[in-house]
Amino acid sequence: MADLEPHSLVHEAVLASRRAVAPYSKFRVGAALLTRDGTVIRGANVESVSYGLTCCAERIALFKALTEGHKDFAAMAIVAPSPQTMPCGACRQLLAEYAPDARVFVADSRRPAKFREFTVDQLLPEAFRSLSNKRTRT
Ligand code: THU
Repeated sequence: MADLEPHSLVHEAVLASRRAVAPYSKFRVGAALLTRDGTVIRGANVESVSYGLTCCAERIALFKALTEGHKDFAAMAIVAPSPQTMPCGACRQLLAEYAPDARVFVADSRRPAKFREFTVDQLLPEAFRSLSNKRTRT
C-alpha cells in the first residue's frame, strides 16, 4: 500500500490525534491520509465555542491534502479514544467524493494494533457523487 503498512498509518493517526483542538468534548480524533505517491497528511478535530462549527479530523486531513494539491488517495486511518470509533456521515460523503478508492482503517487510539478495515463503498453505499453521476474529481 503505497509503501506504508496499515499499522504505520494508524500510528500516524494516533500522532495526529495529539494535536486535536478539543477543549469542549476532550475527545481527540486523529486522521492520517495516505496519497498514492506515499505522502501522509495528518488531521485532527478542531472545535469551536459555537459547537456546530467544529470540524472532524477526517475532513481536516482531506481538506489539507486537497488544498496542497493532492488528488489520489490510497488510504485513511482514523483513531479516537473509543471502541465504537467510526467516521461520521459528513466525512463519509467527502471520502466518497474525493477518496472513493481509499482503504479506511479505524481504531481505538488506546488499542491501535486492533484496527478494522473498510472500503468507502461499505461506509457509504450508493453515495451521491455529482449531478451528472460521475465521480467528482478534477
Ligand atoms: N469527531 C471527529 O473528529 N470525527 C468523527 O468522525 C466523529 C467526531 C469529533 C468532532 C468533535 O470534535 C468530537 O469528535 C466529539 O464529537
